[in-house]
Amino acid sequence: MEQADKFLISSNRAFIHLFSIYARESSQRLQDDQASHDRPLQASQVKRALADLRGAFQSFDLYLMPVGRQAPGRADAFAEWAAHATSSKVLVLLPTSHNGTKTLDIFDPAPPVQEVAKQPDNWPGMLFWLGTGEATFAPIQQAEAIFIRLKEMLESDAKTLATAINDYNRPAVQERRGRILHLSDLHFGHRDALDREAYLETHLMEIQGDFDRVVITGDLFDDTREEDYRGFFRFWSALQRASSKEPILVLGNHDQRTFGNKLATLGEDYRFLQHLDLSPVVIDGDLQCTFLRFNSSEGGNFARGNISQNQLRDVGTLLDIKRKHHPEIADYPKIALLHHHPYPYAPEEKPVDRRSSSWFRGRESLVELEDSESFLRWCANRDVPLVMHGHKHESRYRAEFIDRTHSAPREITAVGCGTSMGIGGRPQTYNLITWTPDSERWSAQFFSDPGDGSGFHEDKIVLYRGVSL
Ligand SMILES: [Fe+2]
Repeated sequence: MEQADKFLISSNRAFIHLFSIYARESSQRLQDDQASHDRPLQASQVKRALADLRGAFQSFDLYLMPVGRQAPGRADAFAEWAAHATSSKVLVLLPTSHNGTKTLDIFDPAPPVQEVAKQPDNWPGMLFWLGTGEATFAPIQQAEAIFIRLKEMLESDAKTLATAINDYNRPAVQERRGRILHLSDLHFGHRDALDREAYLETHLMEIQGDFDRVVITGDLFDDTREEDYRGFFRFWSALQRASSKEPILVLGNHDQRTFGNKLATLGEDYRFLQHLDLSPVVIDGDLQCTFLRFNSSEGGNFARGNISQNQLRDVGTLLDIKRKHHPEIADYPKIALLHHHPYPYAPEEKPVDRRSSSWFRGRESLVELEDSESFLRWCANRDVPLVMHGHKHESRYRAEFIDRTHSAPREITAVGCGTSMGIGGRPQTYNLITWTPDSERWSAQFFSDPGDGSGFHEDKIVLYRGVSL
């Protein structure tokens, strides 16, 4: 009860009492379930344990929650004021964690929360949603006016209220945002790619308005055979027709080594690569960012990767030349693209998609990027905040501070895409990265389909709040 008083604001004592009972009972149920099973709880167990609490939370008409703030501030003050100013039809959720980090992870986001990922320029802001599911996300400066209007309309019928909240989703001036669709490990030529290609392609055509540019981080085909390349070429040309710009391709070990492996020079095969545009520096004036493309399969035996000092130096040289010809790119954020994962996997690391198991784990030494420290240090010194990769057939997100030679450490985030074709019975995955050119803020959304065509589900959102917040 003391805890409930601390975390719940309401003039209705009975409401606080009821919530505290549900919370206590749910917590006890979860502990009991955990004690009787020596493994992580299943989603169905968690759902059962939280059923009463969930029912109580679902009894409101309007919900508010501040999102994207890094420290207590104006958003919290507004939320607290709103909590005191509401009727029993409104629930204000005020997350208590302010750990000061620049990223915020949201697992299994509810549909209203997905609005937040689409608008990095509006953080920190207030998320409003209705019991019927409609939602809007607004910068904190506009939150008060929206709140007052919606509060006045709470007696209206559900349709009127839904129309009112949707009105806020049509801003007079649309902020400029760039959206990158991240695919990886297609393995054209593999039986699974043949089975699942139509499903992925149909889905991408459905969401084609949601992205401006496509990035594919390697293993475009399964082997260096002509029919594998033909399969990829057909898909690639369809993607080009759906997108206004050419997809940016990165090579993986399977694109240049027989069955993805090589020992010394045996297994290297570059026959089909001459048709692909693989220039190391790609400037995107609309997204206002520069992509740096690395071939991480340049060296390294078996499925391991390696980026040589020569390659790092060459990319640096080309970047400097481009900057001379296009001075405007000096301010563009840089995104590094490669196939192999730059951060090694920790044995206990949890995957983004918690349904997937890690079949590669334990064999890291055969698939890792050799000397990844040199690559990450190069990225830190060149001010690269974001790295996109594939390779492990597992969606992944990891951010670390990397030492720089002459200045303070820089945070580098690596976003990994699993296999978009669900190779080897894995889920079919893709990521959406939303970028706002005017601020260093972005979000990464991770999607997956279990492989049976039951629908792509958003597993996780990561909000990167940038240096300016
Ligand atoms: Fe692969």
